[in-house]
Amino acid sequence: MTEYRDPEYARAYLAAQDAVPQRGVGERLLLDLLPVHTRRVLDLGCGDGRLLALVRSRFEQAEGVALDASEAMLEAARARFAGQVGVTAAHHDLNDPLPDLGTFDAVVSGFAIHHLPDERKRTLYREVRARLAPGGVFLNLEHVASVNEREHARFLALLGGKEDQSNRLAPAWTQVEWLREVGFMQADVAWKWLELVLLVGWVD
Ligand SMILES: C[S@@+](CC[C@H](N)C(=O)[O-])C[C@H]1O[C@@H](n2cnc3c(N)ncnc32)[C@H](O)[C@@H]1O
Repeated sequence: MTEYRDPEYARAYLAAQDAVPQRGVGERLLLDLLPVHTRRVLDLGCGDGRLLALVRSRFEQAEGVALDASEAMLEAARARFAGQVGVTAAHHDLNDPLPDLGTFDAVVSGFAIHHLPDERKRTLYREVRARLAPGGVFLNLEHVASVNEREHARFLALLGGKEDQSNRLAPAWTQVEWLREVGFMQADVAWKWLELVLLVGWVD
């Protein structure tokens, strides 16, 4: 993730974030899959707080905790939520165990967890499961692996051809299996466009 610690890199990502194809479709579905009782939300790798802000556009009173390891991103998130009650943006490296922040109705993440090694993704999913309240949901809008190099090349070409060397892409359905293994009652790929997916894990 070191590149996002570079303020220039973080700013360039934020300036181009709306150009990611089909992103809005996945984000709208994420909103529709939030529990109707959503009161407390955790955003992992929050960037400038885009997803948390989206959640609060539907659940205005929801308390939010946003975690990221890039100070540049946290600065942008704090600016976005300045003056709003109920949002905390804090430094946390997702390679480390999640801090004890209480329980949440929803844990969301946008294009962040694919920067972690697979073994850490799995243990993180277990930690997320442990922090979800009954009836809670994990909504991971994510970048996953293609079935082969040809399809990966197709995806890259549609995104402008730039390979991000820090990506640790894992297949979507493998990650669904991991979610089930760590105790999610159900898990699914709720939406997929090439390498962009919405992974969902539900808690009883
Ligand atoms: C592609 S951006 C996505 C930002 C935001 N979630 C969004 O949907 O636009 C990836 C984010 O993940 C964060 N990130 C990457 N690796 C991380 C790690 N190990 N710990 C915490 N944050 C990380 C980056 O700092 C960056 O803000």
